[in-house]
Amino acid sequence: MCGIVGYIGHRDAWPIIIKGLKRLEYRGYDSAGVALIDHGRLSIYKKAGKVKDLETFAQDENLNGTAGMGHTRWATHGAPSDRNSHPHTSNNGRLSIIHNGIIENYASLKEELGSRGHIFSSDTDTEVLVHLIEEVQEMEQLDLAEAVRLALAEVIGAYAIVVMDKADPDTLVAARKGSPMVVGVGEGEYFIASDATPIVEYTKNVIYLKDNELAVLTRQDILIKRLDNVIQTPKIHELELKLEMLEKGGYDHFMLKEIYEQPRSVKDCLRGRIYPEQGLVQLGGIKEYTEKLKNLDRIIIVACGTSWHAGLVGEYLIEEYARIPVEVEYASEFRYRNPIISEKDLVIAISQSGETADTMAAIEMAKEKGATIFGVCNVVGASIPRTSHAGVYTHAGPEIGVASTKAFTAQVTVLTLIALYMAQQRGKISTSAMTSLLTELDHIPEKIQEALSSDSYIKEIAAKFKDSRNCLFLGRGSGFPVALEGALKLKEISYIHAEGYPAAEMKHGPIALIDEEMPVVFIATRNSSYEKVISNIQEVKARKGKVIAIVTEGDTEVRQMADYCIEIPASDEAFLPLLATIPLQLLSYHIAVMRGCNVDQPRNLAKSVTVE
Ligand code: F6R
Repeated sequence: MCGIVGYIGHRDAWPIIIKGLKRLEYRGYDSAGVALIDHGRLSIYKKAGKVKDLETFAQDENLNGTAGMGHTRWATHGAPSDRNSHPHTSNNGRLSIIHNGIIENYASLKEELGSRGHIFSSDTDTEVLVHLIEEVQEMEQLDLAEAVRLALAEVIGAYAIVVMDKADPDTLVAARKGSPMVVGVGEGEYFIASDATPIVEYTKNVIYLKDNELAVLTRQDILIKRLDNVIQTPKIHELELKLEMLEKGGYDHFMLKEIYEQPRSVKDCLRGRIYPEQGLVQLGGIKEYTEKLKNLDRIIIVACGTSWHAGLVGEYLIEEYARIPVEVEYASEFRYRNPIISEKDLVIAISQSGETADTMAAIEMAKEKGATIFGVCNVVGASIPRTSHAGVYTHAGPEIGVASTKAFTAQVTVLTLIALYMAQQRGKISTSAMTSLLTELDHIPEKIQEALSSDSYIKEIAAKFKDSRNCLFLGRGSGFPVALEGALKLKEISYIHAEGYPAAEMKHGPIALIDEEMPVVFIATRNSSYEKVISNIQEVKARKGKVIAIVTEGDTEVRQMADYCIEIPASDEAFLPLLATIPLQLLSYHIAVMRGCNVDQPRNLAKSVTVE
């Protein structure tokens, strides 16, 4: 939800900011803008559209300046337009601001400021904030940092902001509450961004700004203080991120690259955590809580979107192996109920970005009520892992395509490990059963590789269905969350209406939709519900629906009735979601490309949803 980059140092700021914004474009891509300060002159360039449109727009301008900041927007208040693009400026033309988040009390602040003569030129909440800082600064003759600090005391909401003052051209002031910010520490230069991707090629040393902290950056120094004015000693972390992880590496789209990375990302996720010969799972991140796991009443999984689907897979696995009751909740619903939570509950928050506002709020609420919180996140050092008591990183590497692919399979892998670890700690599984499961799990990366080999056949199927208007995805058991995930992938990147259902539920309503126009994708692998799924396929065929079935290699029965069969390697039922998801990702990808959609940046979406 909006990307922020700032730079102050000895290099030209414009190319650093533009490159950074392109890296952050996954966070929002409806408009972009940059502010530069050069010899006391403040220049602002902003444009609705992509960062490349901004580049074209500004190409003939004087883009000098060694301090500046840029923003790529995902609209909340005010439609995407030039005037609503950031940076926004104060009435006196001195200050400019970029912002990620939502100022909840912006309407009352706007009214008050308006009554005191402030004139606004956009519909955004952000512009109100820069006017407020201006007013505080002028009233009390304060320097920029102090004006920002005092103004923020009047703000309700979430923000990551960078503010510049043309009367103080050698300073950038940044602050955060609820939205992420990372400072890059170079030699004689500082960077600031929503995540480390714009920073990594210049320095590996970063400081993660905490909530309610304010940073004052000059070329020589950084000062971090809390909003209550207490000075903080920053901790410098070394980035593990590598530059090549942020490039497309010869693929047409990040999404395709990330689909193809899954044999590696699942392997990375398993590395050092499974010991098949000893029948042992080791999860260092939750080791300290082993005793707690033995006495749990219940597990509540909270997440949104694709991560919620991974949570549903986790429910099957944890109940099956660890024998603990599990509830899977949409974080956005859970946080606004008055849920009954006790100290004997474990809450597992799943989030690729580690920044999703609803998931974050849900764990804060559960923590207050005494629950133990585990985070299952991909982005190291993000807010959710930092707020959790313990957790397990998914180690999938940066996911840039907005539609989640490798993060999903990594989340499912981690949940599989958590289920088996709990089973082991609670004495619910024999060593020999563990050895056989872990031996199979160890081979899953190779089997994902095999599943990817159906790509060209899947492309042929995609060509047949690219003009469909609707699509149903059906599965049973852990095939049901796979069906949900398949439907979400298709709708978000191809804009074809798609629904996922438990296959048995079809006859309670969705069956009315089936006719010769309706593609129905079945998860029909050979497992405990195979025969039942076959009956459901027959029900669809009897109504002339078109069946695409994901089947176990060598299957003959489904092949006799389905229109298209995509094979995946045979495996234990526990690992079905890790394999059956792969063809569904490829199917959505090819359909979306054939329809001319922007698969990496689907309309209206953003990767990191930091507003509720
Ligand atoms: C879909 C997708 C979203 C995210 C959801 C949660 O492809 O990516 O549904 O899964 O916005 O995001 P995280 O996992 O970052 O909390």
